[in-house]
Amino acid sequence: MNTDWSRKDLLGLRELSAEEINFVLETADAFKQVGTREVKKVPALQGKTLINLFIEPSTRTRTSFELAAKRLSADIVNITASASSLTKGETLKDTAKVLEANHADIIVLRHGSAGAPQFLSTHVRASVINAGDGAHEHPTQGLLDLYTIREKKSRIAGLHVAIVGDILFSRVARSNIFALLKLGARVTLVGPSTLVPRAFEQLGVAVTHDLEKVLPEVDVVNLLRIQHERQRKEYFPGLGEYIRLFGLTKERARLLKPDCLIMHPGPINRGVEIDSELADGAQSVILDQVTNGLAVRMAVLYLCSGANGS
Ligand code: CP
Repeated sequence: MNTDWSRKDLLGLRELSAEEINFVLETADAFKQVGTREVKKVPALQGKTLINLFIEPSTRTRTSFELAAKRLSADIVNITASASSLTKGETLKDTAKVLEANHADIIVLRHGSAGAPQFLSTHVRASVINAGDGAHEHPTQGLLDLYTIREKKSRIAGLHVAIVGDILFSRVARSNIFALLKLGARVTLVGPSTLVPRAFEQLGVAVTHDLEKVLPEVDVVNLLRIQHERQRKEYFPGLGEYIRLFGLTKERARLLKPDCLIMHPGPINRGVEIDSELADGAQSVILDQVTNGLAVRMAVLYLCSGANGS
């Protein structure tokens, strides 16, 4: 494996080049292959300590990073907000300094505030991996989404991807937009005008509020959860109204090309952004996304720790 990677941190996909994104995806290919062996563990991070510092709830990302670290033979400690001294008023910086004093090599941080991983990276020597910061970025989700598209479609360049729902408050949307555009995909954002303002067009994407018009044209439809926890007020009249206009119902799904991929980063609100049968149906790759997250996060930990010799 070559060493085209010189970053100790992964804070977002906006700052990555197309070559760097492709390098992570290719490295993930090797780790996905490792997952098919009888012995799925490799010694790449033996002797390294990873701290999973999750100040916001998570099922997929936290579990995936923990499994990835274990597969790479790292030692891992999980810290959640309620079980940390952050609840006693300790600052994030002091918490991180304590972790580093315990010889943490990698800190995986999920935080409700945009920029928290960036802030941490300027105060610790350890690698900092962003596991989702406010409405800013969720880079490993973006990478695993691209990995899944590339795996199923054998390419990303030239594909048309619709991202549907609460774009305004979505870190997943931002990471997907940056990476998909860099790799040559066409992106259309779909949702209520309150959650998908025209200002997003400045990023190089199309914006529409008409889901049924765009569904027949796309190769991938990525449905996002309404981020109620980040909204200070409701940005649309109600869930009924949202489902009526933007939910992927069985009727609407008939408009999709037969080989269009249905994606969702999770957690899913069944019956809101997607009909339950579609989430479990033949076009859904939602669980493939979860599976691929493990290989992608192994690749990210391996590269950022310098284990590839860079
Ligand atoms: N997709 C995602 O970030 O899910 P979790 O919140 O469960 O980690």
